[in-house]
Amino acid sequence: MEEELLRLQKEAEQDLASLTEIKELEPFRVKYLGRKSEFTGLMRLLGGVSKEDRPRLGKLANEIKAELENRFSVRKTDIENQLSASGAESTSPDLTLPGRTIPFGKLHPVTQIMEEICSIFEGMGFGVAEGPDVETDFYNFEALNIPKHHPARDMHDTFYVNDSLLLRTHTSPMQARIMENQDPPLRMIAPGKVYRRDSDITHTPMFHQVEGFLVDKKVSFADLRGVLGAFISKMFDDDTAIRARPSYFPFTEPSAEIDIGCVICRGKGCRVCKHTGWLEILGAGMIDPEVFRQVGYDPEKYSGFAFGLGVERIAMLKYGINDIRLYYENDLRFLSQF
Ligand code: PHE
Repeated sequence: MEEELLRLQKEAEQDLASLTEIKELEPFRVKYLGRKSEFTGLMRLLGGVSKEDRPRLGKLANEIKAELENRFSVRKTDIENQLSASGAESTSPDLTLPGRTIPFGKLHPVTQIMEEICSIFEGMGFGVAEGPDVETDFYNFEALNIPKHHPARDMHDTFYVNDSLLLRTHTSPMQARIMENQDPPLRMIAPGKVYRRDSDITHTPMFHQVEGFLVDKKVSFADLRGVLGAFISKMFDDDTAIRARPSYFPFTEPSAEIDIGCVICRGKGCRVCKHTGWLEILGAGMIDPEVFRQVGYDPEKYSGFAFGLGVERIAMLKYGINDIRLYYENDLRFLSQF
């Protein structure tokens, strides 16, 4: 009996040492530790052993079994750990791993501001129209009372495509294009890209404007002031100060530049407003009778105002950004903040 037990123990230990795969574990357990194993059979035979030998053999059998169970479980953990470390066993996905997030895209900050500007004017009943970036000399200059060789062309450093085609230098050509096709009363805005040969901390060769104009009987400068006042208090704060400075544009008379109280220092004076307390945000004026004549409107019967605002400029003020070029460097660390 004792010999049998020791032989079995030796055999089991040799077998155990040669185990390398998970699929070998269960057959081993059945063979040596299961209810139908040879070992269990030997344990049953203990009943027939002489009384003197029984306790000693029983103890020996129990010790061998406990030892074998212990070694088997150590070996089993070893094999399992080895396999999962090598990844060989991971056929199903690990649901405890964190997922991969899909980043959401966003609108460019300039697009966001542009949409906000448009929706404020739409709220005041303005319609929206868009025109071509490649414009004719006629609509960009001629129709707006800027004839060839007029010194006012110097205000615009133009990109020419050929003698009569150019990249529009402002959105004002949309005034002429729309008025040509529609009769007053009329209130429209025209957002879009414009181009000038200009590049520094406050200028990019391409930027965005929103043109706006309103034509009807008896439109006055007070109406212009009222509409712009409403726009500015919606875009910035209700208590934003506004002032109009006399200016010159060939297609408006009188012309003005509109300033708002500096939104950074609240009028006290800072770098952004160059210590004046004021920031220029748009050009405007009463539409020149000469423009009306070009599009076939009777300047005796109708009057109107027009304005053109720089979208990047407004975005810079609204977000407190002092270098316009940041908008166009495509740096996601910058863009994703908006
Ligand atoms: N088009 C002018 C510019 O780009 C702005 C402007 C628009 C001024 C309409 C008066 C009326 O500077």
